[in-house]
Amino acid sequence: MSHRKLEPGRLVVASHNKGKIREINELLAPFGFDVVSAGDLDLPEPEETGTTFEANAELKARAAAEASGLPSLADDSGFCVAALGGDPGIYSARWAGPDKDFAMAMRNVEEKLQEKGAVSADQRRGSFVAVLALVWPDGHLEQFRGEVEGEVVWPPCGEKGFGYDPIFRPDGHERTFGEMTSEEKHGWSRTEPALSHRARAFQMFARACLEG
Ligand code: IMP
Repeated sequence: MSHRKLEPGRLVVASHNKGKIREINELLAPFGFDVVSAGDLDLPEPEETGTTFEANAELKARAAAEASGLPSLADDSGFCVAALGGDPGIYSARWAGPDKDFAMAMRNVEEKLQEKGAVSADQRRGSFVAVLALVWPDGHLEQFRGEVEGEVVWPPCGEKGFGYDPIFRPDGHERTFGEMTSEEKHGWSRTEPALSHRARAFQMFARACLEG
């Protein structure tokens, strides 16, 4: 499949989530874009009315591209717990409430796992999902999905990262995302495979739209 290349220049990161904007900026850094966030441009935050990560990523990127006249990159992501039927999933941000209280959201995940009697490692499987959508002002869309599998741990470990990072330990690692530096969490260079869901989606995006 052929992808449209994104030429260097101004790029809007269509997010108001500081943790996410920081990570996307880190991942974009080697490519020399002039990055602005939707918040910097005072763009309104569209309501996430989609029922999939793909739909929500697209609507955020489309809204920012239309409002700014610039290519716009959005990430819709979430934490999916198998024993909870994939919850909180696309509602990951909403589980933290208006105060963005992720200590509460993580407790809620653990309480629900306890109610299910999920104590063994195989009953506590979880994954992070990130879908990146890139929309040009003419409406062209490119989309990429990254996932990382692991275990939901309790109590939360580590103060780094954001959101649900302290209760997620990716497979093959001894520490949670909350205990990793962002370099370790991305686990990404141009030659190595990525670790985090966002870096995995980003690696696909970079190969398809930025390189070559
Ligand atoms: P969105 O802004 O609707 O995509 O919300 C995504 C939510 O999923 C965030 O607010 C976090 O709660 C959670 N999330 C997504 N990616 C990560 C991550 O890398 N670490 C921890 N939590 C994440």
